[in-house]
Amino acid sequence: MGSDEYLLNIEDLGDLKPCIPMYGPITIKNLKPGKVMLYCRCGLSKDTPWCDNSHVGTPFKPMKWKVPEFSGATSRFSICHCKYTKKPP
Ligand code: FES
Repeated sequence: MGSDEYLLNIEDLGDLKPCIPMYGPITIKNLKPGKVMLYCRCGLSKDTPWCDNSHVGTPFKPMKWKVPEFSGATSRFSICHCKYTKKPP
């Protein structure tokens, strides 16, 4: 994904940092290839790692992520759960 698809870069936040739902990645299965997901960048979502609009009223915005094509054996994705990865999600 290009940097223009990142609605907010963590480097641009200054002293404002996202909440950390969990240290480490979360494994997600059974995502439909081509589906666009909204990755939570604020760390406040109760549907983490996906956005549930809990960011409203904060400067954070979700990041669009298109589920890549995969074969049946690679349908598991490791998604950042601490929100500090340089390559989200
Ligand atoms: S709930 Fe976190 S970015 Fe939307």
